[in-house]
Amino acid sequence: MSDLKAQVKALKNPPQHIAIIMDGNGRWAKKKGMLRAFGHENGVDALRRIATAAAEVDVKFLTVYAFSSENWNRPKTEVKALMTLLVSSLKKELKTLKDNNIRLQAIGETASLPKNCQNELAEVIELTKDHNHMTLTLALSYGSREELSRAARCLAQEVAEGKRSLESIDEEAMASKLYTAHMPDPDLLIRTSNEYRISNYLMWQIAYSELYFTPKLWPDFREDDLYQAMLDYQNRERRFGKISEQLKSEIS
Ligand code: IPE
Ligand code: IPE
Ligand code: MG
Repeated sequence: MSDLKAQVKALKNPPQHIAIIMDGNGRWAKKKGMLRAFGHENGVDALRRIATAAAEVDVKFLTVYAFSSENWNRPKTEVKALMTLLVSSLKKELKTLKDNNIRLQAIGETASLPKNCQNELAEVIELTKDHNHMTLTLALSYGSREELSRAARCLAQEVAEGKRSLESIDEEAMASKLYTAHMPDPDLLIRTSNEYRISNYLMWQIAYSELYFTPKLWPDFREDDLYQAMLDYQNRERRFGKISEQLKSEIS
């Protein structure tokens, strides 16, 4: 076991939910003189390693940004390559999910994915639904602004139909209409590739997440990089608006 892994295993309050913006596949490929699609293929290998590593240290939820609402605006050939890769990876990685007792889920406008992606996704979600060690959620055709508009529309409709009062629309009601309604908020958000932005990812849910940025490009992100981020998280003081002294007296 690596030294970092042993340290993570010994943590008292490890993050339960880690979200990752897996960025930098294209630059990684370019540096090697290869096509962007090669970077995405290696990105899948990185995801397999990181999902397995997260499960090994008992992370409960891992939620990864695989394709954003805005990524539809990329060149058609890249979008097509990503969709093809999604289908082949779902087929190939079912074994990884089984071996590690990982449940697969998806968030986003998945109905806008090509039909074969939707079918493959539905099949793997069904086949892994009883796995209970960790939930791996793929954000696909996901964008926070779409998610929040959808939630607002849904609540407005319930009011219009007389199913709820205007006063009942509060934070809890909003959260219950998000794709992530069944999950706790992320404790830690990691973004690779030296970019310091959120890119429309989980904007409601990360209100109080700890943020971790690394220059590593996603295909180069390794198990120890994940563990390093988790150890860094442990040194943060999550005050949730309170002051340090209050937290100390709550513990004692
Ligand atoms: C992230 O890598 C993967 C997806 C967005 C699908 P990028 O493809 O954004 O790689 P860079 O940022 O161009 O290097
Ligand atoms: C965010 O990465 C989306 C995914 C990682 C899937 P992008 O590479 O699309 O983000 P921007 O456009 O550079 O902000
Ligand atoms: Mg990018």
